[in-house]
Amino acid sequence: MTRIDIALGERSYPVLVGHGLMNEPSAWNRWLPDTPLVVFSNEKVAPLYLDALARVLPDHELHPLVLPDGEAEKSFDNFRRAVDFLAERGIRRDACLLALGGGVIGDLCGFVAATWMRGIRFVQFPTTLLAQVDASVGGKTAINIPQGKNLVGAFHQPSLVVADTATLDTLDPREYRAGLAEIVKCGAIRDADFLDGIEARCEALLARDVECVVDVVGRSVAHKAAVVAEDEHETGVRATLNFGHTFGHAIEALSGYTRFLHGEAVAIGMVTATRLSELRGLCPTGVADRLSATLQRLGLPVSIPDDMTADDLMSLMSLDKKNTASSRRLVLLRDAGQAVIHADSRPEQVREAIEASRTPTE
Ligand SMILES: NC(=O)c1ccc[n+]([C@@H]2O[C@H](COP(=O)([O-])OP(=O)(O)OC[C@H]3O[C@@H](n4cnc5c(N)ncnc54)[C@H](O)[C@@H]3O)[C@@H](O)[C@H]2O)c1
Repeated sequence: MTRIDIALGERSYPVLVGHGLMNEPSAWNRWLPDTPLVVFSNEKVAPLYLDALARVLPDHELHPLVLPDGEAEKSFDNFRRAVDFLAERGIRRDACLLALGGGVIGDLCGFVAATWMRGIRFVQFPTTLLAQVDASVGGKTAINIPQGKNLVGAFHQPSLVVADTATLDTLDPREYRAGLAEIVKCGAIRDADFLDGIEARCEALLARDVECVVDVVGRSVAHKAAVVAEDEHETGVRATLNFGHTFGHAIEALSGYTRFLHGEAVAIGMVTATRLSELRGLCPTGVADRLSATLQRLGLPVSIPDDMTADDLMSLMSLDKKNTASSRRLVLLRDAGQAVIHADSRPEQVREAIEASRTPTE
């Protein structure tokens, strides 16, 4: 088991990463309060793991809330349903919420925990690769509204994260590969050696080799932990975690959130942002092609579909949450492993980068 501590003073918490951790409660139950636990899960994950969790917590009063599956369920309606559930069950301030699922369940559960009685404890048992390396760590919680994704939310840190990589065995291969994109992102923005290691282990990663998966999840979490400890509320360096996301969000939005998974859109976005970095002379030529080749080996898309025009993508990018009123901010690369935030991207170069990302260069 790997333990990574998110260093946030009194709100510090451990992220535990290991294969089969859920069935080893002695590794983590000391961080659970001896109070009622409300378990948020969904109709896909609950049948797979809820009984196993209940079995290892025989002394806890468990209240399972099983919601329908899907991004659309990270909604105001389910927020309302959840707070009604807490009210009906008489859940008090000393109780704890537990998210058992992917990023959708984690974000919703975290947002309910942030707001119920002005904030109560919650713990995360992330069951997708994306949630293990990204969504469950760092305290961003949110729900979607029709006007946009994650527009209503709060920063609220969990008190424990248990990332059991054995739960990934049941994950759909496409969802698994989408999580790999966020792992590549960690290497691309902060750690060239890690990126080299990913390049060298694409086959082992795709085969879900236990040792390899535990290693890359632990290292990705360690990167996120360092960034979050330095900049919890994203006033500076934390924005580098959005590498590929400005283009990615526009690609997701333009395709109505149905054609690409988030990680797939981020993979295309990372390649496009790196091409822009090269066009600006920030980054040596060849980094984008190399990143593109690695992502393709991991089974991820890397090119912008021809039916998405640069105009449409660029107008969606200007709505990105990371922009201030007067400037467009983009995360670019100085080199593999070194991200930089740029405030003034020239539109003609953004357009050129989009066009250059239409066909993968081998
Ligand atoms: N809070 C953050 O910092 C942060 C960061 C990144 C993404 N997010 C959010 O995370 C969400 C995406 O998360 P996601 O990719 O985990 O999606 P998800 O939660 O929808 O999970 C993807 C699919 O996998 C299923 N699933 C989950 N675990 C499984 C398992 N072990 N076996 C089989 N199926 C399983 C889910 O039911 C779902 O159908 C988005 O809403 C995004 O906004 C949040």
